[in-house]
Amino acid sequence: NEGALWGARFASGPSAELAALSRSTHFDWALALYDIAGSHAHAKALAAAGYLTADDEQRMHEGLDVLARGIQDGTLVARPDDEDVHGALEAALIAEVGPELGGKLRAGRSRNDQIATLVRMYLLDHSRTIARDILRLVDAVVAQAEAHPDAVMPGRTHLQHAQPILLAHHLQAHAWPLVRELERLRDWSARASVSPYGGGALAGSSLGLDPALVARELGLARPAENSLDGTSSRDVVAEFAFITAMIGVDLSRFAEDVILWNTREFGFVTLDDAYSTGSSIMPQKKNPDIAELARGKAGRLVGNLTGLLTSLKGLPIAYNRDLQEDKEPVFDSVRTLELVLPAFAGMIATMRFDTDRMAELAPQGFSLATDVADWLVRQGVPFRDAHEISGALVRACEQRGIGLEEASDDLLAQVSPRLTPEVRTVLTIEGSVASRSGVGGTAPVRVSEQRAELIERAQTA
Ligand code: ARG
Repeated sequence: NEGALWGARFASGPSAELAALSRSTHFDWALALYDIAGSHAHAKALAAAGYLTADDEQRMHEGLDVLARGIQDGTLVARPDDEDVHGALEAALIAEVGPELGGKLRAGRSRNDQIATLVRMYLLDHSRTIARDILRLVDAVVAQAEAHPDAVMPGRTHLQHAQPILLAHHLQAHAWPLVRELERLRDWSARASVSPYGGGALAGSSLGLDPALVARELGLARPAENSLDGTSSRDVVAEFAFITAMIGVDLSRFAEDVILWNTREFGFVTLDDAYSTGSSIMPQKKNPDIAELARGKAGRLVGNLTGLLTSLKGLPIAYNRDLQEDKEPVFDSVRTLELVLPAFAGMIATMRFDTDRMAELAPQGFSLATDVADWLVRQGVPFRDAHEISGALVRACEQRGIGLEEASDDLLAQVSPRLTPEVRTVLTIEGSVASRSGVGGTAPVRVSEQRAELIERAQTA
């Protein structure tokens, strides 16, 4: 097998079972173009250190370019007995430029420093795609908030009517975590932008190659400070898996709201036909499958993080083959988010709100009871007493089957002499919402200021 990277000290080749277990080309081929980029950079380092003549280096780059084109157009693929992407590409290079030159490229590098570098390059690239997709979703949320600046809705805690809020406030509450994910990705990328290339198998290179040159060529900020750490730590991969899992959790919370809002009982939203699905048996059905898939796939993203952390636990320094298990989970997380985020953004952008229905429900469930208590506080009543009085009013209204705003002057006075008819000034949804004008509150003026800040933060992340 000319793709094998070792063999001389073995009396036999690998058994079929070992080869089957060991093979990783079905997933690490995703790194093929990064492997080529690494080889270009490594060829430069070898030439700079005097191991390749200018002519050799030139032929090496040309050969690697041929391989890259083959990878891009799908004509170069791994063969069944290639163990991994590195071996497959070395064999392809040798076939292209001959064994004399092709055999020189492996000097001073190991698959251990290669793979640790390539996985960072892959994740950095995809972190940019994911960030762009998150930004589009944030834009969709902001556009909906902007389109409904005054719409009110029941705010809930424990899913029970609590206090009225602006729809825009609620929507923006889903955008802020996404903005923090953008910031997390940015912070993470500074830590990820390190090149273990040149660390060799574990101990560094004896050939006088320049790891800083390789890092620069690969667009990474600097070489790894420690060859053992560089080749065997995967905290940067796990941190990426955490961020993707957290994005999944953010989306699943948002999805849960959409699913509830889309029920007949809530009736807050209608999903666009292009972003909902039907039933194979019930002709009338229109289902929120995008939201459900987003919610479901959060489990998968969390699982990828958990599996990865479990693989890493207890691994001794330095490289161990267990580390091959780092790639499939994060590749899956990347693929998952690159599917979910655009669909989710489309669903949000095209969702229609029934703001009349939301406004109708906003005052229900005695959601203005806190406003009554706050009004009493402004009249000089201690909050403890105000809470009692307002609670007694809720009870009295509930017994009579009426809303707070329907309580007669007599009933108010009967509950407490402090409840004068002026209390009705705070018994409107608009008044209640406008009164919550502290920083971060749901008053329209605060919510629109908040939106400007949200846009600013999203764009600078
Ligand atoms: N395919 C391996 C990985 O993904 C890299 C190869 C290192 N193999 C080795 N026997 N040292 O981590």
